[in-house]
Formats: sequence, structure tokens, C-alpha cells
Amino acid sequence: MDNRAIGVFDSGLGGLTAVSEIMRLLPNERIVYFGDTARVPYGTRSRETIMRYVSEDIDFLQSFDIKAVIMACGTASSVSLPQIREIYDIPIIGVVEPASRAACNATKNLKVGIIGTSATVKSRSYEREILTALPGAEIYTAACPLFVPLVENGRTNPDDIVLATMVEEYLTPIREAGVDTLIMGCTHYPIIERAIARFMGNSVSLINPGLEAARFLQECEDIEKSCGAAEYRFFVSDDRSGFMENASKFLGGKLCGEVEIASAGK
Ligand code: DGL
Repeated sequence: MDNRAIGVFDSGLGGLTAVSEIMRLLPNERIVYFGDTARVPYGTRSRETIMRYVSEDIDFLQSFDIKAVIMACGTASSVSLPQIREIYDIPIIGVVEPASRAACNATKNLKVGIIGTSATVKSRSYEREILTALPGAEIYTAACPLFVPLVENGRTNPDDIVLATMVEEYLTPIREAGVDTLIMGCTHYPIIERAIARFMGNSVSLINPGLEAARFLQECEDIEKSCGAAEYRFFVSDDRSGFMENASKFLGGKLCGEVEIASAGK
């Protein structure tokens, strides 16, 4: 047994989609969460900038006594994970591998859609994982850069006209391609899952990368689980009140305690 905390980070609210699943699947785990709200979004930045932000986020989490890091960010996982694993001597779980595995298990017609930030789609990270496991798969991708700012601003209601318009614009080609599985490849996107599901229809399986990363953690034998009492700490680098309002809404009242301010960068 290892009662140390698990460090989870994202550029903002998105990583809470992993946190809520870790809370549910592993209710004894302590979690330290960092949302880099001062520098969100990551997905429109260069590879060098994303690498620097990710290193600073992990350095911040390592200032606590943590046993593992969940990179609960599709962009960070896509752009930095292999190199970051070489630098840090702590288990690091990203979202690309678990979500791709789930998509391979879900698809029947081998037509898989992938949506994510511009950096994620450009990296082809999910695509590579899927084609390695299913070489005959047809992959359809779309970058959806406006989804993250909409989520960070609380525009998550499926009836929201701006959200519905953007969902239609981004997802029409993927729906027309006839995919039966769609990876919501950015951890912010499950927060707007109802809008995405409404547009894609019931027959399309939606893959939630935060949920899949939490399942991966649950199954991971290299990371010993906790038998202690859960404790949650939430840090953001800016805008505590906006984060608290949206996070409480999303976590259904499970945002226990104050959100604290921290700075990951110099
Ligand atoms: N949740 C992050 C992701 O999964 C959002 C990236 C961003 O900040 O653009 O990609």
C-alpha cells in the first residue's frame, strides 16, 4: 500500500474529467490537482512551449509527496509524454494510450473519429496508437480549438447556441464519414459530451480520455494503491472564482475545500 497522493494536471478544468473518475474508481486515493488556468489553452502553442509548461506543472506537483502523475491533458500527452518520461523518475500516465485502446475495443466498423486541440491533431498521437493496433482502421480527425475556451467560460449547456453551432461546424465531416466511435481527445470535451452526443447520435460510442486514464491507473500494478482516507487539494495558477464555479458544477459538489493559487512557471 502507498498512501501518497496522485498528482493530476491539465491546462484548466479538463483534467477534472479524470479526477472525477479517480474519485469514483479509487475512492481512497489522495489527489493534488493543478489547473494551469493562467496559461490555458495549451493546444494552440508550439511544441517547445508545451514541453516547458508540462515540465513546470510536474515540478510543481512534485513539490508534494506524490507517487504518480496523471497527465490529464490530451495536448500534453500527445506532444510531450515520451520525452517527459525520460526526464522524470516517477510513473506518468497520459490519456492517449488508454483512450486509443478503448476506441479499438469499441469500434465495429473500424471507422474512428478523433477530435482534439490543434496540437493534438497535428501530433497524430491517437492515430498512431490506433493504427498500430488496428492497421485497417479509417481515421477521421478534426481540430476543435474553440471548445476549450467555451468550456473554460462555462458554455457547456447543449442548448447554448454558440456551442451547438461550433459542434455542428467541427463534427459534420466526421459524422458524414460514418464513424461508429469518436475519441473526445481533449479532456475538456467530456464536459460538453451532451452536446457532442446529441449531434453524433446514439449509435456512436464516445470515448472519454479522463475516464480511460483513471481505469488505466486502477489496473496499473506498478502504482500501489492507497488504503487511507481520501483528501483532495486543488490548485490553479489564476482565476480562482471562475474555476471554483465551473469545477463545482462539473464535479457535482465534490470540490471539497478551497481552491488554492499556485504558480508553476517562473
Ligand atoms: N484539456 C486539454 C487537452 O486535453 C486542453 C488543452 C488546451 O489547453 O488547449 O488537450
